[in-house]
Amino acid sequence: MLHPKMQDAINKQINAEYFSAFLYLAMAARFNGLGLAGGANWMNVQFQEELAHAKKFFDYVGERGGTAKLETIAGPPTEWQDALAMFEHAYAHEQKVTGLINGLADLALELKDHATHNFLQWFIAEQVEEEASADAMVQKLKLTKDAPGGIFQLDAEMAARLFTPPAPAK
Ligand code: FEO
Repeated sequence: MLHPKMQDAINKQINAEYFSAFLYLAMAARFNGLGLAGGANWMNVQFQEELAHAKKFFDYVGERGGTAKLETIAGPPTEWQDALAMFEHAYAHEQKVTGLINGLADLALELKDHATHNFLQWFIAEQVEEEASADAMVQKLKLTKDAPGGIFQLDAEMAARLFTPPAPAK
């Protein structure tokens, strides 16, 4: 049985993950507006990843005999100047999410909830990847900023990104 404090904290995280999904879907719309279909694909894949993260938390709450609670999802921004601004935002956002996941792990330890602490290890590792993939795009976009045509090459790279569903929670 999940401690009520842990359940509340995970429920908040479910909402944070759905907000992340909305944020990246909004960025996909902006990429489409910029005429960069590859960037839109990258963000659509990220949208699917965030939905999967939310569902993984949702399923875990149920599995532990708790009740997942869904709350209103805040509207994300809709305007970014360019691809670099979006990926800088994405990188900062993922750093924030890492902080939230670390907070959940701290609470699990405080409550001696070893099952939840173990469950969170997947997310701790995932956040390393989440930060790295957004930061890699920031670095590449900075490198190609003054290179004519560079953005189109990067757009082709972003077009190749595929969604791989994570393994279900154990
Ligand atoms: Fe669900 Fe991008 O972290």
